Amino acid sequence: MHAPTEALVDDLRRYLVGQPVPDTLALLADHFAGQASFSTSFGMEDQIITHFIFENDLPIRVFTLDTGRNFQETYSTWNKTLLRYEKPIEVFAPQYASVEELMRQKGPNSFYESVENRKECCHIRKVEPLRRALAGQKIWLTGIRAEQSANRQTMHPAEWDAGHQLIKVHPLFEWTWAQCQDFAQAHGIPVNPLHRQGFVSIGCAPCTRAVAPDEDFRAGRWWWEDQAAKECGLHDTAAEIVAER
Ligand code: ADX
Ligand code: SF4
Repeated sequence: MHAPTEALVDDLRRYLVGQPVPDTLALLADHFAGQASFSTSFGMEDQIITHFIFENDLPIRVFTLDTGRNFQETYSTWNKTLLRYEKPIEVFAPQYASVEELMRQKGPNSFYESVENRKECCHIRKVEPLRRALAGQKIWLTGIRAEQSANRQTMHPAEWDAGHQLIKVHPLFEWTWAQCQDFAQAHGIPVNPLHRQGFVSIGCAPCTRAVAPDEDFRAGRWWWEDQAAKECGLHDTAAEIVAER
């Protein structure tokens, strides 16, 4: 990491403390004009950030990675969002040849068979499209919150992403789940109906289940795997991304 970027990340971390989210977004949109993108999977946190971006007409590109395996409820939420805000949401889909090859070789449910197979599917459906989505960008905004997992508590609201060579910013990093729920309700933000059925963290349909009130936020993701550091590759550490290349 070059020194100017390191200094910038430090400045951003300091700036973000106690700053209203729309102000943070406006600053980033202005400072990194045309190079700030927000990725949405249409979960509660992402819907709140989308609301801030669209309601304030901020020039931040909003995109989603359509894995092709999402819940119908997620597609409905996506559609409601288009109708409500009338703003574009860009879409990055997996390379069709890779999906065809995976399905031909291993069938449609290979992710249940091993962590390696699961990571292969996530790589094809999420990680590779994400790389295309982030090409040329300087800021990547996400809906990550510290409360979501022990692993995420070690992250920072602004961090250098060496794998993608950009600064990653999590504007709702300090928000609690209750805060998100209250905010979404108060502002009539369209939310995924699965949240009302015990789903907190929502990914692909075959790899997500509802959680009990006493379970971790991410217990419903890839629930058949070791619970230690479940990430799909989107938010791997820089070292992991670089090692994979
Ligand atoms: S994941 O890595 O386990 O899938 P998670 O579902 O917690 O991530 O979401 C964290 C953030 O990653 C979201 O707030 C969003 O910014 C981004 N993200 C996750 N899945 C997608 C997706 N399919 N498309 C776009 N962004 C996504
Ligand atoms: Fe494939 Fe499941 Fe990963 Fe979605 S979450 S890309 S279906 S392994």
